[in-house]
Amino acid sequence: MAMATSWPLQFSPPSCSRATTPYQLYHRSLPLAAFTCNQSLSHTLLRGRNEVNFPRAVSSVEQAAVEVSDPKLHKAWVYRAYGAAKDVLQLEEIGVPEIAADQVLVKVRAASLNPVDFKRRLGKFKASDSQLPHVPGYDVAGVVVKVGSQVSGLKEGDEVYGDISEFALENPKQWGSIAQYTAVEEKLLAVKPKNLSFAEAASLPLAILTAQEGLDRTSFMEGQSILVLGGAGGVGTLVIQLAKQVYGASLVAATASTGKLDFVKSLGADIVIDYTKQNFEELPEKYDVVYDTVGEGPKNVKPVKQGGSVVALTGAVTPPAFRFVVTSNGASLAKLNPFLESGKVRPILDPKGPFSFSQVVEAFSYLETGRALGKIVIAPIE
Ligand SMILES: NC(=O)c1ccc[n+]([C@@H]2O[C@H](COP(=O)([O-])OP(=O)(O)OC[C@H]3O[C@@H](n4cnc5c(N)ncnc54)[C@H](OP(=O)(O)O)[C@@H]3O)[C@@H](O)[C@H]2O)c1
Repeated sequence: MAMATSWPLQFSPPSCSRATTPYQLYHRSLPLAAFTCNQSLSHTLLRGRNEVNFPRAVSSVEQAAVEVSDPKLHKAWVYRAYGAAKDVLQLEEIGVPEIAADQVLVKVRAASLNPVDFKRRLGKFKASDSQLPHVPGYDVAGVVVKVGSQVSGLKEGDEVYGDISEFALENPKQWGSIAQYTAVEEKLLAVKPKNLSFAEAASLPLAILTAQEGLDRTSFMEGQSILVLGGAGGVGTLVIQLAKQVYGASLVAATASTGKLDFVKSLGADIVIDYTKQNFEELPEKYDVVYDTVGEGPKNVKPVKQGGSVVALTGAVTPPAFRFVVTSNGASLAKLNPFLESGKVRPILDPKGPFSFSQVVEAFSYLETGRALGKIVIAPIE
């Protein structure tokens, strides 16, 4: 498989003995640490075989077989302290996560970024976060290469996609998807829609599940109207499409800046509001649901009809607005597959991307401008 060529080592793992060097002490908490080597040691490995004791070299064919069936090491973006992407994120070679009985190991082919990735990296959710170090990334699309003993619905070779952390903020995965491999519960994955590339599929899970769960929590139904605040973002682009194409909205309005209005219309918005020129809360129209992805509270409750619902994904929550945190669920994703396969709902990838696996810091910097159109994808990951 192609992944063989992207591995940094032409050798089987070096014989770093456990906890005898500063490297091992530093990486003690890494998964599957038959041994682990940090970036500088990896570089040493790459620089010259004389600098460490290598076991025998293996051919590339032999290496490919080892990688597919039971990889031990992989490349992953890691941060070991909270902070800015450029200060804390590093591409390292670490142990591949071990899978639990209900998990599969996914060879990642593409991943996407979400604001929760950078908010988490900045330490905003420290109180409920998993322990450092972290590999960031919730969204994945890839190929199953290994299955746990209790896995019944997936097998090696299946092409899957999903949000790998069931609860986005409560002890989310320590070892995320911005890596060559990631371990995921079977129940969080769905089979990748056949018509979508890995990059397209990876753009969807967390954002589309958020769009879907928010609409479900308002009991949104056919014939209702909705105002989407932030219609051009990762979640907003999907709320517009789901409201119109899946739930049967009678009217979809959305806010965006001047240059993105036509694009938002192309997603199915009947009315577009240029937020740089008009205050949505001063307009006369009222909606059954306001879906706020921007954090416009308390203004977001002004355009809702009496008895209507207001979803506030972020920012202040003023009644009747409510907040929820998305729950990942493969079955919910699978329910959307027919709409993706028919082309009624389409993934929206920011035109500046996809970003390569070596450009993750740049991708984060762009995400953090808050100006992305749709989703920022990291692909290919080989
Ligand atoms: N609670 C949950 O479970 C949950 C789940 C997912 C996301 N979220 C949160 O929801 C928020 C949105 O997520 P996302 O992935 O959609 O973010 P995103 O893709 O980064 O959003 C960027 C988009 O927001 C638009 N935007 C910025 N300010 C705006 C304004 N005042 N009015 C209208 N549009 C504006 C930008 O368009 P312009 O360039 O035109 O301004 C850009 O297209 C984030 O805070 C995220 O953390 C929460």
